[in-house]
Amino acid sequence: MSLFRHHKKVETNATLLLVLSLGVVAIGGAVEIAPLFYLENTIEKVEGMRPYTPLELEGRNIYVREGCYVCHSQMIRPLRDEVERYGHYSLAVESIYDHPFQWGSKRTGPDLARVGARYSDEWHVDHLTDPRSVVPESIMPTYGFLKKTALKPDSIQAVLIANSRVGVPYTDEMIENAAADMEVQVDPDGDWEEMVARYPKAQVRNFDGQEKLTEMDALVAYLQMLGTLVDFSTFQPSASR
Ligand code: HEC
Repeated sequence: MSLFRHHKKVETNATLLLVLSLGVVAIGGAVEIAPLFYLENTIEKVEGMRPYTPLELEGRNIYVREGCYVCHSQMIRPLRDEVERYGHYSLAVESIYDHPFQWGSKRTGPDLARVGARYSDEWHVDHLTDPRSVVPESIMPTYGFLKKTALKPDSIQAVLIANSRVGVPYTDEMIENAAADMEVQVDPDGDWEEMVARYPKAQVRNFDGQEKLTEMDALVAYLQMLGTLVDFSTFQPSASR
């Protein structure tokens, strides 16, 4: 075939091969990227997403530190079995304040993107302390030490600043009040109204049932928030608008 007549030339000339390879890759890239310019948006706008409260953010850091993402994903795919089990498929915007995102790539345990409000706080504390006490066949490791580890407010302000540097819209007011906001979220008798005004839908409870503020409080607050921010009873996918 005439197409292959010059093939030897291409195979024996490194520069020519390189130039032609780049050409092929460029065409492939353009085919993938160009359609994105014609979409109205790639991240859908929805009501309800807000930056994490200082306590939730600390819980998220513990989630990352303990490697929960190794066994748990936080991304529900738009497949029937997943949507029936976990709820509405995940939207890109739901990860917008995650640095880094926690989509995960392996499900040894279930997806956690919408685990918030599915169990009681006590269930989470029991489960994290001794998973076998509530799910006898569980192979999940134990994390009871979180209940004994005090959550210190010293570094939370720096954590908010670091997140704001990578684009999370924490205001000066949020950063200034970070430590106080973190402590008041576990204190229903405290003055939490301003904190909730800053972070709508923030849940104020003593999450681990203990007097002092611990890492368990933060992790359970984070888990109970997951998937609760966007109101899917009013959400319309853009294609059906
Ligand atoms: C070695 C793998 C593994 C690791 C690491 C792991 N888990 Fe799990 N997790 C599981 C398995 C398996 C299940 C299902 C059985 C059960 O409920 O215990 C589970 C279940 C759960 C559930 C209940 C989900 C549901 O919908 O029923 C939550 C919540 C959870 N894990 C949170 C965490 C958190 C938080 C961490 C990190 C501190 C973590 N897991 C670390 C394996 C793991």
